Amino acid sequence: MTDTNTTAHGKWSSRFAYILAATGSAVGLGNIWKFPYITGENGGGAFVLVYLGCVLLIGIPIMIAETMLGRRSQRNPVETMELLTKEANADSNWHYLGWMGVIAGLLILSYYSVIAGWASAYILKAFTGSFIDADASAIKTIFDQFIASPIQLIFWHTLFMMATMLIVVRGVNNGLEKAVQYLMPALFVLMFLLVAYAMTTGSYFQGLHFLFTPDWSKLTSNAVLTAMGHAFFTLSLGMGSIMVYGSYLSKDISISKTVFIIAGADTIVALLAGIAIFPIVFANNLHPNSGPGLIFETLPIAFGAMTGGWLMGILFFILLAVAALTSSISLIEPTVAWLVENRRFTREKACLWSGGITWLLGLGTVFSFNIWSDFKLFDRSIFQILDYLTANLMLPIGGFCIAIFAGWIMKTQHSEEELAMPTPAYYQAWKILISYIAPAAVFFVFLHVIGVL
Ligand code: PHE
Repeated sequence: MTDTNTTAHGKWSSRFAYILAATGSAVGLGNIWKFPYITGENGGGAFVLVYLGCVLLIGIPIMIAETMLGRRSQRNPVETMELLTKEANADSNWHYLGWMGVIAGLLILSYYSVIAGWASAYILKAFTGSFIDADASAIKTIFDQFIASPIQLIFWHTLFMMATMLIVVRGVNNGLEKAVQYLMPALFVLMFLLVAYAMTTGSYFQGLHFLFTPDWSKLTSNAVLTAMGHAFFTLSLGMGSIMVYGSYLSKDISISKTVFIIAGADTIVALLAGIAIFPIVFANNLHPNSGPGLIFETLPIAFGAMTGGWLMGILFFILLAVAALTSSISLIEPTVAWLVENRRFTREKACLWSGGITWLLGLGTVFSFNIWSDFKLFDRSIFQILDYLTANLMLPIGGFCIAIFAGWIMKTQHSEEELAMPTPAYYQAWKILISYIAPAAVFFVFLHVIGVL
């Protein structure tokens, strides 16, 4: 399949550019906002271990598969599935997989943008000195008052969606590549500084203990599902983001090596966030299970108390917002690429439509934190439903199908040729993981949750 239509479909300028962009997609709110609070809600150590196991045994093989599918077809996810299905003489229903990805991306972005709006608002709060010398209860009041205001949340959500659309309209490799180049190293440095602060709180080891000592009695079947779902979410898997980024990758680059780098960086950022946050939680008598507000109720305490905290607070929330931006771009890119390449939309019109619909959906999440906070379905708010539906169900199901497609439907000769692994043993290991281990693991977790196992 060498007839790549590179005129309509972009290309990364280098291997490094691709690694940066894919890491930009993977590293985001999932690592810094979501990982700590779901770890807190699910009891710590045991949950973290399950998550790490899922990254290694399910996430990495599927990331290799998803990148491979995209690169082989050099098309958007919907067309990728159509094209590769034909190449393998398989059932045409496989193209629904591309569709599910497009829908999952928009649903995720609808709430992702609201939370990224919180991070953006906190840049301003840090700048105006709101956190200086504030204690835990003052910081909590700031957060509670903020999310109680639909107007403020809508304002920041709108701003964030506009920023996303402005970048997406220019195409993936103009601007995006350059932004990530500086962002990633800066984010690493800041995370290390926060960990250094956490060491001074007096609760550092209590934090580490919570994160890394497993208490298996706290692990419910839903916690296992959340940990697995998060492995997909944090690596941007199961919905076409990594597929579409892979489709912009040139043929001479080793997929498996880049995947290890990307997944490694993603995991390190998440662990650093946890190591920085839990000591602050314990030192201030806060609760690990405070939910989605956790980082907004803890880190500002650190910024308010430490020397240079004013500047660090500003920098941190800028980096968090930009890290979210480089992920949100990848959430909407599959849809935009499909509208442009298949529906003959201009890039502007594609952005306007997909961005507009996502923005509208996001209002559900905004209101779930205030005027509609009493509205519950299956005991969950709109935000929680969207999160559960996408991260715990759609992404693992999408990933499961990708694994089956790459392991069983695609011809071995084709995947071998596309992956070009250094030795046949590597290829064999991947093939076993993708054909048996990863799909079986997803399947068993689902069976467990619905109570069959
Ligand atoms: N991986 C991103 C994060 O951790 C979120 C994301 C999910 C992006 C799915 C793209 C696709 O923040």
